[in-house]
Amino acid sequence: MSSNLKWAILGSAGMLGQDFIKALPNAEGFDRDEFDITNLNSVRKILVDFDVVVNCAAWTAVDEAEENEETAHAINGVGPKNVAIICSEIGARMVQISTDYVFSGNADQPYQVDDSTGPKSAYGRTKLAGEIAVKAELPESHFIVRTAWLYGEHGPNFVKTMQSLEKSKATVSVVDDQLGQPTWTADLVEQVLKMIELNVPAGIYHATASGQTSWFEFAKRIFKEIGADPNRVLPTTSDAFVRPAPRPAYSVLSHDKWALVGMKPIRNWDDALSDAFEAGAFSAS
Ligand SMILES: NC(=O)c1ccc[n+]([C@@H]2O[C@H](COP(=O)([O-])OP(=O)(O)OC[C@H]3O[C@@H](n4cnc5c(N)ncnc54)[C@H](OP(=O)(O)O)[C@@H]3O)[C@@H](O)[C@H]2O)c1
Repeated sequence: MSSNLKWAILGSAGMLGQDFIKALPNAEGFDRDEFDITNLNSVRKILVDFDVVVNCAAWTAVDEAEENEETAHAINGVGPKNVAIICSEIGARMVQISTDYVFSGNADQPYQVDDSTGPKSAYGRTKLAGEIAVKAELPESHFIVRTAWLYGEHGPNFVKTMQSLEKSKATVSVVDDQLGQPTWTADLVEQVLKMIELNVPAGIYHATASGQTSWFEFAKRIFKEIGADPNRVLPTTSDAFVRPAPRPAYSVLSHDKWALVGMKPIRNWDDALSDAFEAGAFSAS
């Protein structure tokens, strides 16, 4: 059982890390104040005796990574490698949280776990480097969990942005030409806990919510959830909303692998959003 295992959560002060700590009260959490993931000895000092290490620590500022790829690589590429080296030394399993940005986003059907990668952004390249390093250091005990479009109680995210824009703007323009799977952090945590409990084989997994939608449709759904008029959300295009890092147009990840390891995929994004609000993850005011 996962509850009898000794868990370490790296990046425990981040949006996802905080939800892991909530779900695993006996886990030990470490963030920037306790260690620096880019430094092998710093990682060695904290990871002394653990069964499972979940790495949520990352450079997540996608646009800023374009101008700071070296630093982002140190955190997203070298960092996971350092963690994997120590996990190998102490005999721990490692869960490396990764992203849809490792793909180009040019597909028109859901990405399978073994589809070719081809990141278009600096962030995506650095996260892919992390995946490759973790797999190389821990061939038998790596769990690369790709997720996308995360929202949760802690930290900035799209749901909170929409909540705040709803209060300050008459209308909000949101891109309608990027498709993905909005995923509640609490659902992702539950999926990872189950993976470890069931002792699924090492490898790559796609842990996003089921179904698919566009940012525009997601925004309308959020407006509906908070009792605002969804018609105040207007569609726009990526071309009209250019940002430093290119966004994948198609970020839908396939869940076919879950059945092969005896697990169900994460539930539909629409149901999860209602539950996230009901659970109090986002205050109404
Ligand atoms: N958010 C999404 O939509 C999304 C989508 C797909 C995948 N992911 C992946 O999911 C994981 C968790 O994301 P998140 O949104 O929870 O990220 P987050 O809130 O930015 O948390 C990341 C944490 O890592 C810490 N960190 C950064 N550099 C570090 C270093 N050198 N040493 C130690 N800790 C360091 C950060 O500290 P500072 O804040 O002080 O920098 C922060 O507390 C990441 O691997 C991310 O790539 C996220």
